[in-house]
Amino acid sequence: MKILVLNGPNLGTLGRREPEVYGTRTLADLEAMLAARAKELGLEVSCKQSNHEGQLIDWIEKEPSDAIVINPGALSHYSLALADALRGSGKPVVEVHISNVFRRDPERHRMVTAAAAKGVISGLGFEGYLAALEYLRSLPPPRAGEGRGGGG
Ligand code: DQA
Repeated sequence: MKILVLNGPNLGTLGRREPEVYGTRTLADLEAMLAARAKELGLEVSCKQSNHEGQLIDWIEKEPSDAIVINPGALSHYSLALADALRGSGKPVVEVHISNVFRRDPERHRMVTAAAAKGVISGLGFEGYLAALEYLRSLPPPRAGEGRGGGG
């Protein structure tokens, strides 16, 4: 099973960005953690980060994968285009937020991309991404000729 892990705007600066909110570990640390856990779980992961909505959508549309883990960053709160791409992928999607967005400012409580995900993990730090991998690993494989069905 191949899992595409996408991180959106400003997640490339993890480690130095608001460490009181996001911690001191870097994106490279996160990607190394994911690679190690994927190996244990027998999964293939491909990790990518972009500050650009269109780039994220291109990866969702074109990168081969069976499932997607995405932290859309602030795009989560307003990008219908990203939500459409996730829904249109027909793949199981888990949305992850490092911080608990519901303990933060009300503008962050609205998550338009979350409606295109099977589930959302928010506030568990980097461990949320690992939990997402374990969840996706537990899904039954799609039957031949069937998509996995997105968003449901
Ligand atoms: C975030 C939460 C978003 O509200 C914020 O804009 C981010 C990071 C998180 O991982 O907690 O960039 O997605």
